[in-house]
Amino acid sequence: MDKKLIGSCIIGQSGGPTAVINASAYGVIKTALEAEEITKVYGAAHGIRGVLDDRLYVMDMEDPKELELLLHTPSSELGSCRYKIADPAKDDTDYKRILEIFKKYNVRYFFYNGGNDSMDTCNKISKYMQSVGYECRVMGVPKTIDNDLYGTDHCPGFASAAKFIATSCMEIDKDMHVYDKPMITVVEAMGRHAGWLTASAALATCFGGGPDLIYLPEVDFDMDKFIADVDRVHKEKGNVFIVVSEGIHYADGSFVSEAKTSATDGFGHAQLGGLAAMLASKLGEHTGIKVRGIELSLLQRCGAHIASATDVEETFNAGKVAVEKAIAGETDKMVAFERVMEDGKYSCKFVTVPLTLAANTEKKVPVEWINAEGNGLKKEFIDYVLPLVQGEVNVPKENSLPRYAKLKKILAE
Ligand code: F6P
Repeated sequence: MDKKLIGSCIIGQSGGPTAVINASAYGVIKTALEAEEITKVYGAAHGIRGVLDDRLYVMDMEDPKELELLLHTPSSELGSCRYKIADPAKDDTDYKRILEIFKKYNVRYFFYNGGNDSMDTCNKISKYMQSVGYECRVMGVPKTIDNDLYGTDHCPGFASAAKFIATSCMEIDKDMHVYDKPMITVVEAMGRHAGWLTASAALATCFGGGPDLIYLPEVDFDMDKFIADVDRVHKEKGNVFIVVSEGIHYADGSFVSEAKTSATDGFGHAQLGGLAAMLASKLGEHTGIKVRGIELSLLQRCGAHIASATDVEETFNAGKVAVEKAIAGETDKMVAFERVMEDGKYSCKFVTVPLTLAANTEKKVPVEWINAEGNGLKKEFIDYVLPLVQGEVNVPKENSLPRYAKLKKILAE
């Protein structure tokens, strides 16, 4: 064990939320509150923006029972941001400010919970603190429904969104078959560059009823082939069920949904969406039959009521392990999951990977897991995702409705 480092810690949440991201926050906060090395626990309001703006919530002043409710409270309770921090070689203004705040509160542990862009922020802060000789252990805590972080078997939040999508597809499949006339249903799932989430709809087809056709961003989209695929299924079965990723794109890289979007986030990423309606309208014109476009939108990433218990447990532990490893002397790392399969039984091992590797590298669905036609998934994907969606959560209720955490959010002075 490295020498004891005594000081306070900050936990920040960043990027798009998930149904379980607060479980990681709870993992960090609970473990940090119990650790003798950590003198004070702060939650950054809106991620790194809260540090820059000196808006830190004092977690020590929260009711432990409310903190525990974070386990099943969706979305990012501390607030999130999509703030692109500059390259310190070009502009170190933000870094100097972060250092100032770290010194003000004697921050010696920094935990940043997010996806690719957030790991980039975390990595840059870690390297800056090293370069100026300020002792602070920096750990990334992974999160993203997109499941595209490098160096980890899967990402906290993915499995719960996958379970929501698979379940919703099974339910939609029932509904779309009620009439005596055929219809076409197009469902749009999130995941800008990686198709993990969209692929999870294949669970529905495998275990009940689900999409006939699935299109991921890993395969270049061809509108003529898409229409031919739909015609074929329509001829064979009448009803056609399609799931598309918001990020499907043509061979030249332009998003199929691009015409619909102009807004961008702080990282310059186009805000996607509107694709299901666009494709539904195209297919309606082409076939003349009833069509419905369904954009799962935020529902797929805040469905805490149907979260995977495996995901909640692993996500909590990702936060807990980050604190434990940092206290033990690790820094400049991201917590990652290693899949262990023994006698067909799944378990998860917690490891760490260098932040430099995790930052900004996207992990895609292996092309070998996609069928030859580029419109469906093979058994390898089902084998990958199935263990992750296991287990039911018991969300605390009040008046038969979810009882989510209500934090006081008292600002540090
Ligand atoms: O963070 C991942 C993600 O949920 C993507 O799948 C999606 O494209 C994006 O965030 C949406 O972001 P926002 O909430 O900023 O619109």
